[in-house]
Amino acid sequence: MRNEQVPDRNIAMELVRTTEAAALAAARWMGRGDKNASDGAAVNAMRMMMDTVDMDGVVVIGEGEKDEAPMLFNGERVGSGHGPQVDVAVDPIDGTRLLSLGRPNALSVVAVAPRGTMFNPKDIFYMEKIAVGAAAKGKIDLSAPIAWNIEQVAKAKDLAVEEVTVVILDRDRNTEIVDQIRAAGARIRFITDGDVAGAVMAGLAGTGVDMLLGIGGSPEGVVAAVAMKCLEGDMQCRLWPRDDGDRKLAVERGLDVTRVLAIDDLVSSDDVFFAASGITTGDLLKGVEYVAGGATSESLVMRARSGTIRRIQTEHHWRKLEQISGTRYTN
Ligand code: FBP
Repeated sequence: MRNEQVPDRNIAMELVRTTEAAALAAARWMGRGDKNASDGAAVNAMRMMMDTVDMDGVVVIGEGEKDEAPMLFNGERVGSGHGPQVDVAVDPIDGTRLLSLGRPNALSVVAVAPRGTMFNPKDIFYMEKIAVGAAAKGKIDLSAPIAWNIEQVAKAKDLAVEEVTVVILDRDRNTEIVDQIRAAGARIRFITDGDVAGAVMAGLAGTGVDMLLGIGGSPEGVVAAVAMKCLEGDMQCRLWPRDDGDRKLAVERGLDVTRVLAIDDLVSSDDVFFAASGITTGDLLKGVEYVAGGATSESLVMRARSGTIRRIQTEHHWRKLEQISGTRYTN
């Protein structure tokens, strides 16, 4: 008998319009040294487009608490209010510093999962992370030594340890991990910001990156976990309190900072969606380029259930967009 079931909706196809909108607005601020202005532009544009998406969303990973973030704050309802009940993680600009300094790899990112399935790191800002692609799925352990994890990846990918490339944020707090990677003999690609892109590169074939290690932002950890689900990769994290204040806060918020969070702890559903658009051109995506009367952008659109990974190259035409939306796209 023929299977007459029709594949259901891929929300990521709609979500990409929110990351495109954020990227188009933010990219005007490239290299202008104004992080707040670029963030404001990205948040505004993403927020406006978000309500066109048929979903009943709650922002779980957002721009912060309501009193400090006017839009896309944690707990805000987003979407049209119709359609599936979902958790939403937004990062209108991952790499605000990259963008403000005109450096590569700034992205705009959104991740969506069924309601109640995303981990909420609350006020603990940092996490230790390990992320790998499909070949090494199930073979990593954040509580094991770094060298062991690198060997696991090398074995899984049929590489020598010296051929494994680890991406890591260039931060003092990662010095010990860097020393261990070097002692193991693996190669390092340092990034100054943007470890969502780092994790996605570890998960995608052909990027030259085999794994992400190191301590980075917790919200970015949850967003990256959604991407790793779409890529059939693997990820583990552990909250990383900076000091006794953070340790106390974690207890108050009921968070266990000793626990290794597996990918299913970070996002417990396999029915998840991810969209990212390049703001500045980098290893993963091309950034926004402005042309007469419009712009071009490149995005990555992924859905875990189908495993589909799309790269979307888009031409945007200001005049027509202004006609249908009544919104100004130019300054
Ligand atoms: P923002 O764009 O929000 O500043 O985040 C950039 C980023 O590099 C993340 O990718 C990363 O997880 C985090 O900052 C690291 O935090 P910090 O810059 O405090 O070390």
